[in-house]
Amino acid sequence: MTLKSLPAWTALEAHYQQIRDKHLREWFAEDKQGGASRAERFTISGAGLGFDFSKHRIDDTTLSLLVDLARATGVEARRDAMFAGDIVNPTEHRAVLHTALRSHDVNAPFAKEIQAERAKMAVFADKVRSGAWTGHTGKPIRHIVNIGIGGSDLGPKMVVHALHQFADPKIKTYFVSNVDGADLQRVLEQIDPETTLAVIVSKTFTTQETLTNAISLRDWFTKNGVKQADLAKHFVGVSSNVAEVVKFGIAEDNIFQMWDWVGGRYSLWSAVGLSIMLAVGPNHFDHLLAGAERMDQHFREAPLERNLPVIMGLLGVWYRDFFGSQSQLVAPYSESLHFLPSYLQQLEMESNGKSAQLNGDTVDYPTAAVIWGEPGTNGQHAFFQMIHQGPTLIPIDFIALLTAEHPLPHHHDRLLANCFAQSEALMLGRTFEEAQKIAGPDKPELVPHIVFPGNRPSTTILLDELNPQALGALIALYEHKVLVQGSIWNVNSFDQWGVELGKILGKVVEADLIADAPVDPAKHDSSTTALIARARAKAGR
Ligand code: F6P
Repeated sequence: MTLKSLPAWTALEAHYQQIRDKHLREWFAEDKQGGASRAERFTISGAGLGFDFSKHRIDDTTLSLLVDLARATGVEARRDAMFAGDIVNPTEHRAVLHTALRSHDVNAPFAKEIQAERAKMAVFADKVRSGAWTGHTGKPIRHIVNIGIGGSDLGPKMVVHALHQFADPKIKTYFVSNVDGADLQRVLEQIDPETTLAVIVSKTFTTQETLTNAISLRDWFTKNGVKQADLAKHFVGVSSNVAEVVKFGIAEDNIFQMWDWVGGRYSLWSAVGLSIMLAVGPNHFDHLLAGAERMDQHFREAPLERNLPVIMGLLGVWYRDFFGSQSQLVAPYSESLHFLPSYLQQLEMESNGKSAQLNGDTVDYPTAAVIWGEPGTNGQHAFFQMIHQGPTLIPIDFIALLTAEHPLPHHHDRLLANCFAQSEALMLGRTFEEAQKIAGPDKPELVPHIVFPGNRPSTTILLDELNPQALGALIALYEHKVLVQGSIWNVNSFDQWGVELGKILGKVVEADLIADAPVDPAKHDSSTTALIARARAKAGR
């Protein structure tokens, strides 16, 4: 049976027709009739996170139909298969076990290997942080440079930034990902070869950007007087391809393992998180894992109606597939969560941005939404105009911390007030009559410009404070949301074949860019040929 012919789907389609024009104002007005309010009915919590989804265009019937859809599409079976270590990534014939990385269950798959690698990481991190591990002149490490891209960069970068309050202030962490040399150059200008440790992170250790940056950094060390034999004091590697890391010149003792059952975008819990551990220490790293494990338990045990990742995934499907919304805004009202949206872009779009179903059939429904976002309140002064008054429906995740991360007075109340007020304003809007009153009799032409349609849906996720546990739970929430949606859409959330073609053509174009002879016009389309010719001419080739 195809997704769209499931009774659960057709029931949702019929229900959508009934409620599509109903305004959230009307729904909230029904609270006055007594009984449990929307806020009471549609606020849940799990793993320490509060999750208010009352400002969504749903009622009790919607929720129960959505949960029926989750059941009918086998979300629970897919979840259980993932936790059990079954092959849930069939195109690569792999299990998907990032959850085992944070499990305290000694019987969890690969528990021994995981613990051994974590212990090795902790010993190393303690040595670096205590100053026992020194650079080639005997000075303690003061700069960590994480070189990696995609999942080998976005997760650790997001977490190190988010947990800056827990980091050792003596050690500064930098992230270099882009093959654009400007990225590495900016960092080289700030570091010192005597006190720098490079962490080269690549699951495959074949990624062009990472190897280019790693080689340039190694050259920088040698140009700055570090002898070949001393490089071991300044380089460690994280990979599942130990042979390639050794070939690069990193001593086997300085290699931290990850495994093929850890997907790149799900890997920050593994040795890929080494720069997190170096920054905040093994204890805080453990707390990050513990927070994620709490969310894992919630996901496995909470009834679907009160299960955060399930509800979050279902709401995304509701807007994407029934309302036709194309994007999902993530608005963390926290500067520390600055990199959360870009981390989630890879997590969600690389995972579920697919058209092939597991059996190879092409989907006839939209899959992953475009994920985007910026911290509030900055976003309010940039793109919120469109969300309030544009013709496009964009659901929002507001994420707020109940405790300030700083001692400055006034800021936090204002920050929270902005967050809550935006969700209220987006939900309420401003009616024509209200706009008329504001415009007054002298300016009737203003009225259409100051009307707000409202009915713009949002979730508000509340963290008591931004600590490692809460962050771990928040990240795991989104990871499991991806699994829920992938199960409903029947796609493989754990492969990423779509990035391959560009990589292959990139090599061909690079060869043409640097070749002695001009490019054969038969090799590329006219646009690409002209672009290459332009770049060659500028470079004097
Ligand atoms: O190109 C996409 C990708 O394969 C991501 O899935 C991955 O996170 C990233 O590249 C980096 O890969 P690696 O860790 O193997 O360098």
